[in-house]
Amino acid sequence: MKVYYPEIPSPCYVLEEERLLHNLRILQRVQQESGADIICALKGYAMFSTFDLLRQYLAGCTASSLHEARLCFEEFGSKAHVCAPAYPPGDFVEILSCASHITFNSLSQWELFGQEARKAGVSCGLRINPEYSVVETALYDPCAPGSRMGIRAKDLGDRLPEGIEGLHFHTLCENGLPELLETFAAVEERFGDHLKGLSWLNMGGGHHITREDYDVDGLIEFLRKVQQRYELQVIMEPGEAIGLGTGFLKTSVLDVIDSDGVLVAIIDASFTAHMPDCLEMPYMPEIRGAKEVVRGLPTYRMGGISCLSGDQLGDYSFEEDLEVGQTLLFEDMIHYTMVKTTNFNGVNLPSIGILRSDGKFELVRQFGYRDYRDRLS
Ligand SMILES: Cc1ncc(COP(=O)(O)O)c(C=O)c1O
Repeated sequence: MKVYYPEIPSPCYVLEEERLLHNLRILQRVQQESGADIICALKGYAMFSTFDLLRQYLAGCTASSLHEARLCFEEFGSKAHVCAPAYPPGDFVEILSCASHITFNSLSQWELFGQEARKAGVSCGLRINPEYSVVETALYDPCAPGSRMGIRAKDLGDRLPEGIEGLHFHTLCENGLPELLETFAAVEERFGDHLKGLSWLNMGGGHHITREDYDVDGLIEFLRKVQQRYELQVIMEPGEAIGLGTGFLKTSVLDVIDSDGVLVAIIDASFTAHMPDCLEMPYMPEIRGAKEVVRGLPTYRMGGISCLSGDQLGDYSFEEDLEVGQTLLFEDMIHYTMVKTTNFNGVNLPSIGILRSDGKFELVRQFGYRDYRDRLS
């Protein structure tokens, strides 16, 4: 029976420090060789126990809410680039106190808040919608028909409002350089005149820069050219690329049942509560030692611990039968998981830990009843 990492509790998100460093070095190289700034999108990666490390490699963070802006200011130690679909008036003063840049999603939000932001010395920008879709999953496509994300060229007029210093587009999701180039061509076609005279251009997230096959040299060349041509600072704000491939979710098998001929391994974690993108995207994460279904090999569906019928995934084949108590490691479970976890059904949140570069495990946080209770009233 396979039991991995007996010193690590189950379930537990385990960040592998060496792998995070690998990603950070790539992102640092892009910044050093292109002159662009790369900041961390907290919506995708917000493991603040690693911010000491991130701070040495990245230029800051981007935030989409007051709480993310505070996390950036208080834990990362720098003012945030803030970009949200709209700002609650009651949050705005505090958001400004944590922000260096703020992007408005509509002209009406700019009219409402722009002068206040300028007075506070925060650099203001507008989010644009280049109406060029590269993302197939509608849930993640900011350029889908009817999208509320960003201002379309026809609604922006010929001149940018006085006081706007930057533009922001975020249209990619897990994409390579070709999709960025195509998107930028659409931006130039629709908004080219507005790019001249800007101080900054934020190209959003969705850049899979740390994926093995990403054309990093091509990206550096592209960023250099854009900055030279328009004499502005390019900012990129990936989330996933920070945490990509940097760790796993350790889980354990609690039961194995035969459900009308389908073998189901019920684990001590939940897909809907702890790995929600598996159901939302949807996609099948890699499980260490498992493979796609192979006839003749023991094959199992993975059952989550919540009572949601759809909290399951599969099927996967293994070399040996699964047994109660054995470990299953779900790979690449650091980005988006921790920020999206819920206590649905009262299921506990997985612990959080770091496997240091020297091989030692450090438990950072464990959760319990209080964390569940304190979100309710
Ligand atoms: C405005 C904005 N910036 C950055 C990101 C980060 O994207 P990713 O984690 O795919 O790099 C997102 C993700 O939704 C976003 O909406």
